[in-house]
Amino acid sequence: MEFNRNLSQVAPSLTLVLAAKVKELKKQGVDIVGFTVGEPDFPTPSYIKSAGIGAIENNFTRYTEGIGIPELRQAVVDKLKRDHGVSYNTSNIAVSNGAKHSISNVLFALLNPGDEVVIPTPYWLSYPAMVLLCSGQPVYVPTTRDNGYKVTAADLEAKITEKTKVVFLNSPNNPTGSVYSKEELKSLVSVIKKTGVWVIADEIYEKLIYGEEKFTSLSEFSEIKDQVILVNGVSKAYAMTGWRIGYIAAREDLIKAVNKIQSQFTSSPCSISQKAAIAALQEEGEEVKAMRKAFAQRRKLALSLFARIPGLEVYPSEGAFYLFPQCNAYYGKSFNGKKIENSLDLAEYFLNECHVAVVPGSVFGCDENFRISYAISEEEIEKGLLRLQEGLAKLV
Ligand SMILES: Cc1ncc(COP(=O)(O)O)c(C=O)c1O
Repeated sequence: MEFNRNLSQVAPSLTLVLAAKVKELKKQGVDIVGFTVGEPDFPTPSYIKSAGIGAIENNFTRYTEGIGIPELRQAVVDKLKRDHGVSYNTSNIAVSNGAKHSISNVLFALLNPGDEVVIPTPYWLSYPAMVLLCSGQPVYVPTTRDNGYKVTAADLEAKITEKTKVVFLNSPNNPTGSVYSKEELKSLVSVIKKTGVWVIADEIYEKLIYGEEKFTSLSEFSEIKDQVILVNGVSKAYAMTGWRIGYIAAREDLIKAVNKIQSQFTSSPCSISQKAAIAALQEEGEEVKAMRKAFAQRRKLALSLFARIPGLEVYPSEGAFYLFPQCNAYYGKSFNGKKIENSLDLAEYFLNECHVAVVPGSVFGCDENFRISYAISEEEIEKGLLRLQEGLAKLV
């Protein structure tokens, strides 16, 4: 029996596979430091949980409107006005089961077989997979550490052809943590306007920024408003990964298309989670601020510990909860006669010999690096990075 041919081009999400492996090893009693997680290690703030509990107690437990209840869509409209000064109507908002679901809906709505989608590398590993599953063709634009892993206008323009339907921009970025400044976005906006392509602005890590730079949303550029598909959600900023609520803000015709898809595929997002998401979007409680402060401290700690490890080049990016050290200076070295040739070999060495789990850069389209998430305790960060330092010193 033959399955959908698009499936053969896609592997299961390796970060989820790795997280499962770490869990399994821990269960067996192995003392693993897991740097692979892509979610806050904090519980959902209590005022948000209360809203969810209230929804259950008030029997708000049935199907809802396909693309979200009007109150939540209004809360998104208000949030966009408050945070970015941009005006949308509820008819521009579609709520889905997580930002991942939002993005897949959009790609399903936009792509015809062979349509090209431009993706800067390193990328979040689900972008190419989702494009391929929707019969599109990923086209990659490499970025460099010298440029803070951010795509330049010239490099972006060079990849856009008449086949290009969509461009991805992800700031703050997974896996690099890079944040685009307003000026950098401005130069990309001119290319987007000139070429007329759609742009998926994935801003899921928007609230997790630690440096001087203020976050700028791509939605703030009114000259491309009709081309911008703003993607965001509550998973990362409010420690709500399991609640599964994400949303888009976009042109009404795209929202209608997403409504059609979602109403046939999933009926509606979870009713209870929608009520909780309203609470999250309406106020940024103390717990949320404390979480951001903890991430800022952990980032600083991780950067200072990385600075002690020779041969690793770490770009001090200021967003999300990831760092993406360049490690290829170690390729060609060996341990017990086994040569480390690439990021997967190094990640395996770290796991087997140092009991530290990292994600190899190859899954993000960048084999010279690996990713760590600092959404773990300071003690674990210290223990894990010390082990990496010792492990790397053993390679000859
Ligand atoms: C860049 C990026 N976009 C989107 C998502 C998906 O978030 P959600 O939990 O809302 O589906 C993730 C999650 O890891 C991510 O890293």
